[in-house]
Amino acid sequence: MNPVAGPGAAETGHGQPLAGGRAQHLPMLVADVERVMAVEVTAYSHPWTRGNFVDSLAAGHEAELRLGPDGRLQAYQVTMPGVEECHLLNLTVAPAWQRRGLGGLMLGRLAARAVARGDHAVWLEVREGNAPARALYRRCGFIEHGLRKHYYPAAGGREHAVVMGLVLDDAPARTLIARAREDDDGLV
Ligand SMILES: CC(C)(COP(=O)(O)OP(=O)(O)OC[C@H]1O[C@@H](n2cnc3c(N)ncnc32)[C@H](O)[C@@H]1OP(=O)(O)O)[C@@H](O)C(=O)NCCC(=O)NCCS
Repeated sequence: MNPVAGPGAAETGHGQPLAGGRAQHLPMLVADVERVMAVEVTAYSHPWTRGNFVDSLAAGHEAELRLGPDGRLQAYQVTMPGVEECHLLNLTVAPAWQRRGLGGLMLGRLAARAVARGDHAVWLEVREGNAPARALYRRCGFIEHGLRKHYYPAAGGREHAVVMGLVLDDAPARTLIARAREDDDGLV
């Protein structure tokens, strides 16, 4: 599924528009956190705080931005590397860009880097009620392994987390990575 062009407005800062109209994938820097927060608060009922991003970057977590050809922030992810596995902490596609294949693309890219580091699995937690995200992860080959009870704050109290994992040696992960490489023309 190829990401398609969407709404545009030039932005300044990290990731100036590239000549030739190509999207860019860049490491997230502390200087990017303000623009990331501007998307984060539109995408979640319980968004990360600025401090969550700054602390993640300070801890050396892997964090990537995708900017559209016009330099606008379309998507980002934060992953905590571990021992032969990693933990996806945040994956967000800006609402205007959802359902265009970017969630799968970001997952494929992070899976490719995980394989390059020697990881064998990617783990994550997702809100039990987050049907779009659970559908995305299942579609990308993640398996649901169980629940962490009352894990997240929620409007009515607490919400369970579903623990999901992707085995990087298995065929679905290889397909996910191959598709990301194709979609982004070798940018992975
Ligand atoms: C979850 C999220 C990352 C998905 O990103 P996306 O770019 O919209 O997903 P994709 O376009 O790559 O979708 C791939 C597949 O996932 C599933 N999917 C994605 N969004 C869906 C939705 N709203 N409803 C049902 N299925 C959905 C579909 O199977 C889809 O394939 P299809 O479009 O061919 O049917 C995005 O909706 C988002 O950022 N949501 C808010 C933040 C969030 O919840 N992040 C996850 C935290 S764990």
